[in-house]
Amino acid sequence: MAFSTISDLDPAASQARSHDLRKRLLASESTTYATGPTGTGNGERVLVLGGTGYIGRALVPELARRGYAPVVLARGAEAAEDPAFAEAEVILGDPTRPGDVARAVDAGDTAVVISLLSGRRPNDAEECRLVDHEAVVNGIRAAVEHRVRQFIHVSDFGAYRPELIPQVYKLQVEGELMGQHHGPLPWTIIRPTAYFPYLSMTFGDVKNGLAYRIFDHGEYNVVNPIAREDLAEFITNQVLATDALGRVLPVGGPWVPENVVTLRDAGQMMFDITGRDPQWDVVPMATWDKKIARLVRIGRMSAKVRPVAYYLEAAKYWSVVDHVAPAYGERTLHGFMEKLKDREFPTGSFRERMRSGTNVMPTDI
Ligand SMILES: NC(=O)c1ccc[n+]([C@@H]2O[C@H](COP(=O)([O-])OP(=O)(O)OC[C@H]3O[C@@H](n4cnc5c(N)ncnc54)[C@H](OP(=O)(O)O)[C@@H]3O)[C@@H](O)[C@H]2O)c1
Repeated sequence: MAFSTISDLDPAASQARSHDLRKRLLASESTTYATGPTGTGNGERVLVLGGTGYIGRALVPELARRGYAPVVLARGAEAAEDPAFAEAEVILGDPTRPGDVARAVDAGDTAVVISLLSGRRPNDAEECRLVDHEAVVNGIRAAVEHRVRQFIHVSDFGAYRPELIPQVYKLQVEGELMGQHHGPLPWTIIRPTAYFPYLSMTFGDVKNGLAYRIFDHGEYNVVNPIAREDLAEFITNQVLATDALGRVLPVGGPWVPENVVTLRDAGQMMFDITGRDPQWDVVPMATWDKKIARLVRIGRMSAKVRPVAYYLEAAKYWSVVDHVAPAYGERTLHGFMEKLKDREFPTGSFRERMRSGTNVMPTDI
């Protein structure tokens, strides 16, 4: 889980490779998937675990539109009043409690269980274990018991090279599904690339005139992120699709210049869209590595420091590991940022905003 496995980066060679990969993607047509809705339901009950999060808020309405009967297991009573779930049955309960999950599955003739579960603090190892592994396993066990027709596990493209804590648990769940560890259960695994808000996290800072941070040249990796609406459609296409059973499906957004980016490209997009003069905060990777090494050392003695070390490691991960997968959908990162253009963003340091509870990530669109 530490970054020891990514210690051999050659800045010039990595940049040349990223340029080459981007060029090749843009010169190719991704034909793995055909974009567009396929398959409609006939009122089948589909339970979505983790349905109250970013993707769930797009997936639940999509399932209803496509003729399924979505059910959301929600921790908070406010979900029942939420317009995103107007067409869904909302059951109050906590997915980390096996009894709550079993009750939600057994409350009707559940045909499919979909897991979008993920800890809200990816740098908290215990929370990740509890949510990204244990809670998902609660869903798998209840699905086996109820003999549901399909379990869809929304994993992470990062499972191809698991470096971060949640990715390791995602991979563990994948293995348990493939190995049928909890009993017989038809499964589908979806590995999406990063979502738009991750690459737009600092849009507000750039709009407010702050610099955009890159490591060295900012071109160690390439990403084709996917829009949540497109991912929701893609997931719904797999519901009760016989050719999706027993398959691992990596998926990202369209292979077009507005969506196949290095982190520097994402920053340049922000400067172009906001009309700001480019200001780069260039951090040498060697300096960052030293910071990580120091925090990891201190973290061995102090549990408090460990999440900070993970946080720095995650920043490195997202800056150096490719998230490139077969394309689905037409929405682009550029289009997403265009939607952010006229918003007001709070000023102040990242730490201050986190403390005041202001969500720094634009997750409502
Ligand atoms: N973000 C990315 O770029 C990315 C990329 C690839 C794959 N993924 C994966 O895609 C899936 C969906 O992502 P997302 O962005 O929709 O996730 P999200 O917005 O963080 O939603 C997480 C869901 O898990 C629930 N949850 C979190 N902590 C919990 C806890 N302690 N106990 C019970 N429930 C808890 C949340 O419930 P509450 O609403 O009650 O908190 C919410 O429903 C996740 O598995 C994620 O790992 C993400």
